[in-house]
Amino acid sequence: MKLEPLYKLIAPHMQAVDTLIRQKLQSDALLVRQVADYIINAGGKRLRPALVLLSAGALGYGGTRHHKLAAIVEIVHTATLLHDDVVDESDLRRSRKTANVLFGNAASILVGDFLYSRSFQMMVEIDDMHIMRVLSDATNIIAGGEVLQLMNCHNADIDEARYLEIIRCKTAKLFEVASRTGAIVGGAEPEIEECLAGYGAHLGTAFQLIDDVLDYSGAEADTGKHLGDDLAEGKPTLPLIHVMQRGTAEQARCARQAIENGGRESFPEVLAAIHATGALEHTRKQAEAEVRRARAAIEPLAASAYKDSLLELASFAVARTF
Ligand code: IPE
Ligand code: IPE
Ligand code: MG
Ligand code: MG
Repeated sequence: MKLEPLYKLIAPHMQAVDTLIRQKLQSDALLVRQVADYIINAGGKRLRPALVLLSAGALGYGGTRHHKLAAIVEIVHTATLLHDDVVDESDLRRSRKTANVLFGNAASILVGDFLYSRSFQMMVEIDDMHIMRVLSDATNIIAGGEVLQLMNCHNADIDEARYLEIIRCKTAKLFEVASRTGAIVGGAEPEIEECLAGYGAHLGTAFQLIDDVLDYSGAEADTGKHLGDDLAEGKPTLPLIHVMQRGTAEQARCARQAIENGGRESFPEVLAAIHATGALEHTRKQAEAEVRRARAAIEPLAASAYKDSLLELASFAVARTF
């Protein structure tokens, strides 16, 4: 499944957003420009800005005020990636060495902070208290989600509910505010704003569930990330939780040990347990259920080509290989 057809309606806007992002990442400090250009030039799917633009479009919005919002969510996303790769000790992203490998942890953290604070300057420029509240709450919830995840690293006793809480905070929240702020700028009534927010939240949850599947089954050439990063870190994602709940005593012990110790040595054994217990199918089913909820959430929206793209974007979240 390709993204280009889903972005067709918003192609000129996406171009404008890209230009704005580059303009906003200018700084007198050479290192900021180097690190920011490096990660931005590596591409990425640009899903979150697309959600802002499509949501506003689905409400008939014809202006350009949403460009800045779309740029803000992508800049916040980029900041979380810079920080996340330090925390996760990841060395491949967007098919390139991560910024932490190339420039060091300190540069990644500080440039991540630069991006975060730049996004706050841009929020203020929008000069709309409702939007400012939504975005500032979201960035705080995302940071809290990453902390919650850190606290549960190596925790083999985590349950599915806690896992879902983490991914709703660390990932789904930004998707939620992307579609919500698109709705706000599009002049949505409160009920419609909630519909689009719900759509984004469910889509984002499905997106992270599949990210966690791809960490065990993806092709590095497609994902641009290393397989097995979650296991190496001792991150208890849903595939492992499923093995511990549904596997034989031996399979459960293997998953538990892998979570508690981290590392890559047990990857083949854990992967065999994952396949034997249908853990990836189970996780995919959960993602499919979230996508159904996402699609149902925007049922009240009037029919439009934008709405069709939003519906297809929800399907992309599970069909994706990258
Ligand atoms: C990566 O997000 C972080 C997660 C929430 C899984 P994306 O997969 O959207 O990253 P890019 O921007 O396309 O590289
Ligand atoms: C992404 O979680 C969460 C955020 C970036 C906030 P992951 O750690 O699973 O994302 P990847 O796999 O590194 O992209
Ligand atoms: Mg990570
Ligand atoms: Mg991941």
